[in-house]
Amino acid sequence: MSLKQIFKFFKTSAPSLSYSRCIFCTSETLKNSNNGKRPPRVNRPLLDANKVFQFNNWDNVDWDEEMESDARKKVEANSTIKLSSDEQEKYEKDANKYWDAFYSQHQNRFFKDRNWLFTEFAELASHRNSSSDSADPETTSNETYPGEKASTRIFEVGCGVGNTIFPLLEANNDPHLFVYGCDLSATAIQIVKEHSSYDPNRCHAFVADISDQQTQLPFPPASLDFIILIFVLSAIKPDKMLDTIRRLSAYLKPGGMVLFRDYGRYDMAQLRIKKGKCLEDNFYIRGDGTRVYFFKQDELRELFVKAGLAEEQCYVDRRLQVNRGRQLKMFRVWIQCKYRLNPTTLPRSIDNVHGSK
Ligand SMILES: C[S@@+](CC[C@H](N)C(=O)[O-])C[C@H]1O[C@@H](n2cnc3c(N)ncnc32)[C@H](O)[C@@H]1O
Repeated sequence: MSLKQIFKFFKTSAPSLSYSRCIFCTSETLKNSNNGKRPPRVNRPLLDANKVFQFNNWDNVDWDEEMESDARKKVEANSTIKLSSDEQEKYEKDANKYWDAFYSQHQNRFFKDRNWLFTEFAELASHRNSSSDSADPETTSNETYPGEKASTRIFEVGCGVGNTIFPLLEANNDPHLFVYGCDLSATAIQIVKEHSSYDPNRCHAFVADISDQQTQLPFPPASLDFIILIFVLSAIKPDKMLDTIRRLSAYLKPGGMVLFRDYGRYDMAQLRIKKGKCLEDNFYIRGDGTRVYFFKQDELRELFVKAGLAEEQCYVDRRLQVNRGRQLKMFRVWIQCKYRLNPTTLPRSIDNVHGSK
């Protein structure tokens, strides 16, 4: 099949999306699309367009100019009308209520366990079971804060109903590991606490608005090895993101890391948004009142670096998901990052993390 024929094939077989070019993935295009940083793994690159409906998922697809410009036009169109400032304020003030309503409706059925956690974030795998024996956790009775006696502390922000926390605990028998999880939604945290694997000797879930600079966290600065942000920064108002990351980074131990995965610019979810849902550029309100932002690589770089962290990974994960029954192609864009606090950084107090923007 010639290149031209392959392009034609895609054009005619993708009626629901106006992308018209074939997606190829070569080591060279991967390298270029990620500014020289290769993604950690390529499971299934799409090498033969005829086989697109043979699998549900193709990894690391590449976008060409035409797709990019098509997506840009869709986003321009859905962003022409912005919600009024009164409405914007309402969604900010009541964000917890919308997430509570979301979890009251969906309970623990909406998000799936993050089983890819250890392949994408291999750093977390080093704390996995090394044998089938599990040691007893240390007694927590005379701790001044939960997890004080642990040697490895992981904090998941926006933990929802525990789809990351429980796989982490279940894959682990290290008695010196402690996992914290917070969420804006009291309903979500209640569901976490009712889970059969919730053990206060190993984890601590609490309600907190991480974008509120006055929120008290139950551990001291410079005490965390990892902070996990999975599809949560996108729910925060863009002008609060930098202070949020700055404040969080003050809780990292020197050498500690932020592990991040979230929506990327022009993800299918952004292109499907209709007019009248835009709060500000690339930030939208969903039908259920929850909010979502779509990131560009450079924006994330700027946020994390301004917060005093150094990049270890920042790559755009572009996939093609296929609905074989309906013969639909869905182009997903996620961004995955790893940022580290310099091992020689002196601990910062929470009061002096609000630098100039
Ligand atoms: C898209 S869900 C992702 C949940 C979970 N991280 C996962 O991947 O399954 C976003 C979560 O972030 C929480 N969230 C939104 N804004 C927050 C904030 N300011 N502080 C803490 N959690 C927040 C929501 O309540 C929701 O549980």
